[in-house]
Amino acid sequence: MDNAPSNAPWKPDSWQARKAVQLPVYRDAAALASTIAELGRLPPLVTSWEIEALKARLAQAQQGRAFVLQGGDCAETFADCSSENIVQKLKILLQMSMVIVAGLKRPVVRVGRIAGQYAKPRSDDLETRDGLALPSYRGDLVNRSAFTATDREPDPALMLRGYEYAALTLNFVRGLIDGGFADIHHPENWNLAFVSQSPMADRYHQVMRRVTDGLAFFEAVTGTRVDDARRIDFFASHEGLNLYYEQAQTRWLRHRSRWYDLTTHYPWIGARTAAVDGAHVEYFRGIANPIGVKIGPATTTDDLLRLAAVLNPANEPGRLTFIHRLGAQRIASVLPGMIEAVRRAGATVLWVCDPMHGNTELLGSGYKTRRFDRILDELEAAFRIHGELGTHLGGVHLELTGDHVTECIGGARGLTEQDLHRAYRTQVDPRLNYEQALEVAMRIADRG
Ligand code: PEP
Ligand code: CO
Repeated sequence: MDNAPSNAPWKPDSWQARKAVQLPVYRDAAALASTIAELGRLPPLVTSWEIEALKARLAQAQQGRAFVLQGGDCAETFADCSSENIVQKLKILLQMSMVIVAGLKRPVVRVGRIAGQYAKPRSDDLETRDGLALPSYRGDLVNRSAFTATDREPDPALMLRGYEYAALTLNFVRGLIDGGFADIHHPENWNLAFVSQSPMADRYHQVMRRVTDGLAFFEAVTGTRVDDARRIDFFASHEGLNLYYEQAQTRWLRHRSRWYDLTTHYPWIGARTAAVDGAHVEYFRGIANPIGVKIGPATTTDDLLRLAAVLNPANEPGRLTFIHRLGAQRIASVLPGMIEAVRRAGATVLWVCDPMHGNTELLGSGYKTRRFDRILDELEAAFRIHGELGTHLGGVHLELTGDHVTECIGGARGLTEQDLHRAYRTQVDPRLNYEQALEVAMRIADRG
């Protein structure tokens, strides 16, 4: 009777009766209630039409007919919500996606960790400095990072700020894309200032020349203009960690007769909150969005099957993504058993590899980093294992930035431990910089 509680009626707040981990404790219950009510009154950030369109694309990726590129910051911050940052992120994702399309000859589904990636799980509830213990910083959606009692107190009003920043971000992204920024006829729009000095530059420009020549050739021969090349789809995702925020924007859509989480298109459950009988799984089972679940080395095959049964009982195509983040050292011993178990159970899932979160190390210098070679090793192993078992690796989930940061070690420029201090800017986990991200895209393209 393991799954019995999940058969109880679902409501946007039925998760509150479950064991919840990683959630803030809001001391002012009245302020929390009024924030939830206000968020519920405001217009949604995304629509069910977009969400269902994404689900159909994810169903194609499940069948090996498309590839998902999901990427962005580990943690977005309100301070970083600037024109420059948004454009840089869009540029690198567009560049990567074109490299992958050209290599794999498959459409790419572009998904940003963007417009809502403001809440973070933490190992400890408290952080202690000089004998003073305060609540850990849990992301801008929850509290503030400065180490004072006032700043660290979870503040429900920050959910409204998060909603506003997410709306500003989405508005700008939509304006850019609708206005022609992503037009494949004009890839020069996405050039990053330092692209010309990059070791990746030649290959990138060759690929883009092939793409634009092919497009021009097709248009010349057919006497048509490929208007579909003017606009691309771009979707938003974030970890659905702060369930108060997600709940507040969950709506029953009469024309579809289903509940939707309208904070984002594609929310995921983090590795630390994926307990089958926990609050997060309870919330996610009731929404119609496509959803992801992060799968770590501690996840058992039994957990996987129960997650699939609770989160996708109707086996709806495109609904459920397992994002495996196992680490370069463990993937070969763990992933095949997971894939076999899911296959035997007949569960329809999309497999995506996150080669970042199983390969994080803390250096003696205090920097948290990831080695580029380990990231590539895990990704290559994921392709190989899925290939051997006859399943599809349907996508990749990356932490990256369009900037020239120095957070991960290795890559074409051979960044070392000694380089990290130069531009180490992440709030939480180390990201691939622009060149490293493009290099990953080229490795993926090589699998085509
Ligand atoms: C993340 O994606 O930033 C994260 C915390 O990942 P995971 O849940 O896989 O540890
Ligand atoms: Co992270």
